Amino acid sequence: MEVTRDKAWATLTRYTTSESLRRHALAVEASTRFYARSFGEDEELWGCVALLHDFDYEMHPTLDEHPQDGAPILRQEGYPEVVVDAVLSHAEHLALPRDTPLKRTLFACDELSGFVHACGLVRPTGLEGLEPKSVKKKLKQPSFAAGVHRDEVYAGAELLGLELDEHIANVVAALQPIAGELGLRTTADAA
Ligand SMILES: [Fe+2]
Ligand SMILES: [Fe+2]
Repeated sequence: MEVTRDKAWATLTRYTTSESLRRHALAVEASTRFYARSFGEDEELWGCVALLHDFDYEMHPTLDEHPQDGAPILRQEGYPEVVVDAVLSHAEHLALPRDTPLKRTLFACDELSGFVHACGLVRPTGLEGLEPKSVKKKLKQPSFAAGVHRDEVYAGAELLGLELDEHIANVVAALQPIAGELGLRTTADAA
């Protein structure tokens, strides 16, 4: 089967009705695609893996099911092992090796995309003018976006061999073009 964005989007939306989960998938997709472009990798494939990484979370909201019980569904739908394997690798509790650039990037983009998205939601101008230093400040406030695992954010930047500032700036830049889809305000809205 050829892995296409249309197919991945169809799979995601068949199993995921929650708007916030769909937005999370879109945010991680945008960040992962950003890195695929910058590394000269297969942007379509990487984007599909990101779209699908939490596709089963709505039906499998606990770690004894997600994402491992989603994997057979992906196989049944015809996704190749490169996709299934990368999806499984994002889960810390499965402790699978992140032995490809795709797996490292997915892991590095997952929590940080969610966190940057949350930062944008509380700002009147969304992501515009959002600086790494204010994102880092919020990372140190445990009550803000409490569900985001800070240790995974830091580990992700390290896994990519990037300074946290640079990784944050990349993710902000990656999310900006889809701010509207993510429900974020832009200066255009304020005008
Ligand atoms: Fe997940
Ligand atoms: Fe996720």
